Amino acid sequence: MGFSFLILMLTIATAVASSIDNQIYLLMPHSGSSGHKHSDLNCLSWRLAVETDNLQHWTTVPEACIDYVGHYMLGKQYRQDCDFVAAEAYNYAKGLNLTGDGKDIWVFDIDETTLSNLPYYASDNVAFGAKPYNSTAFNKWVNEATAPAIPASLKLYKKLIKLGIKIVFLTGTRETVREPRAKNLKAVGYTEWEKLILKDNNFHDNSVVYKSGKRKELEEAGYRIRGNMGDQWSDLIGSNPGDRTFKLPDPMYYVG
Ligand SMILES: *[C@@H]1O[C@H](CO)[C@@H](O)[C@H](O)[C@H]1NC(C)=O
Ligand SMILES: *[C@@H]1O[C@H](CO)[C@@H](O)[C@H](O)[C@H]1NC(C)=O
Ligand SMILES: [Mg+2]
Repeated sequence: MGFSFLILMLTIATAVASSIDNQIYLLMPHSGSSGHKHSDLNCLSWRLAVETDNLQHWTTVPEACIDYVGHYMLGKQYRQDCDFVAAEAYNYAKGLNLTGDGKDIWVFDIDETTLSNLPYYASDNVAFGAKPYNSTAFNKWVNEATAPAIPASLKLYKKLIKLGIKIVFLTGTRETVREPRAKNLKAVGYTEWEKLILKDNNFHDNSVVYKSGKRKELEEAGYRIRGNMGDQWSDLIGSNPGDRTFKLPDPMYYVG
């Protein structure tokens, strides 16, 4: 259902002027694929609540917002939102007083931060996060190592390296997928890093505890976390968050 509607909406969206395009975004939440009113849920308000961490521990995208989220993720807005965050991150990074001792680092999350799982999330079985998370299917996708780069993040990554900042990837995906993750990163242009940190197979605390602990280890090893970028709040809160954090949009899933 939703997909052909999305294609139609995208075709319409690209055919009209950008001011009209914005109105389509605003109109989207109020009607479903067959034009019926789904509910009183305003999907833009829902997404804002997600991005500001006002809404926590949600499990799936509301049915009423599948088309809205799909349109957002596949359309210009998501890309422009990512571009804006990355540009701001670079504005900040280029003003840093870097010591050149190789200890200034930038922590990047992987999923929906440096790599995009959108090809997987756009499938009917996932419906942009409206269907319950299926770890078997997601791991299968991760093992394929075919996720594209998020263009804004790749550009930022290259500029940070030019500035002399070392890169650390810190992901909640498991050690068991180290090989496909490394392969995937390299294949799309993330060709070098200081560290690629994956979650131990027998670590079962939540993401905030896991990522805080790893950042603490980095700082104890003498690294200075000058920037920290992720799509989940759990990438950015807790202890040792780094000098500055940057939040990329992600209305498809929540990791606490
Ligand atoms: C930059 O860092 C160096 C070494 O820590 C310090 O001596 C210098 O004063 C700093 N410069 C600025 C503008 O903060
Ligand atoms: C989860 O994904 C696997 C692999 O694609 C599939 O075989 C299984 O039926 C899925 N489980 C559910 C509950 O959809
Ligand atoms: Mg992520």
